[in-house]
Amino acid sequence: MMKLYDLFQRYASKPKGQYPHGEAFPHEHHANERSFILNFVKKGGVGAEFGVFRGHFSEIIVRVVEPTKLYLVDPWTKYGERFNWGDMPFTEFNKLTTLEAKEDTERRMQAHRGRVELIEDFEEEFCKSFQSTLDFVYLDSSHFYINTLRTLIMVDRILASDGVLIGDDWYWDTDHFSGVCRAVNDFVRCFDYEICYAGHKGQFCIRRTPEWTHEYHPERRPPFHDIRNWALEANGGQIPQSFMLT
Ligand SMILES: C[S@@+](CC[C@H](N)C(=O)[O-])C[C@H]1O[C@@H](n2cnc3c(N)ncnc32)[C@H](O)[C@@H]1O
Repeated sequence: MMKLYDLFQRYASKPKGQYPHGEAFPHEHHANERSFILNFVKKGGVGAEFGVFRGHFSEIIVRVVEPTKLYLVDPWTKYGERFNWGDMPFTEFNKLTTLEAKEDTERRMQAHRGRVELIEDFEEEFCKSFQSTLDFVYLDSSHFYINTLRTLIMVDRILASDGVLIGDDWYWDTDHFSGVCRAVNDFVRCFDYEICYAGHKGQFCIRRTPEWTHEYHPERRPPFHDIRNWALEANGGQIPQSFMLT
């Protein structure tokens, strides 16, 4: 049981007037800057945020999308006591505990309890067990290439036919993690999806290639040898190095 002294320590260290736990990083501002990507989501649907942290973006999803149901999926304490991402303001220089991050989310979502469900688990487990469909997913969790690619493949099973998969940290430059960008690009190469948006503030949006784009149906695409011949023609009879269909 938590001792009275521990409780005092926990709350005495918090800057006055700030939302539950102190914030060294401008999370709210950072979340607001990304809100435009929610314009790709239809209002009133059922969705999920994978990677919730302290619920700053969850608040924006609730406000902008007005979902009938929103699943907030994050392992929080299953991840360990702390995030251990290094000495950065994002996690209060690693002082913020995973429990505190969860508590912040609970506080932020208090007014929306009826339609918001916190799931303390890994997105992979959620995807495996979810038995319905989602109109949207906001992906902002591991950021590693393999994890992101595997999650995108798992989301394919539960995304509604007109659903969208949006997310954070689509950066192609090596100054940032480029795992998300590479995974999204490889996913749309292998699955019948298309990128609707990618760029500003690292946001991206992909969806299934819609049926009404008849012209682009696989059976209407030019045969492989035509593409190969065009590639040869364009490159003076040599196969260009970047040509992948060999
Ligand atoms: C960058 S933060 C999310 C920020 C939040 N989306 C926002 O905009 O305010 C990343 C979060 O992903 C969570 N996470 C890491 N691996 C995960 C996984 N496999 N499934 C779900 N969440 C995961 C971490 O616990 C952390 O809270």
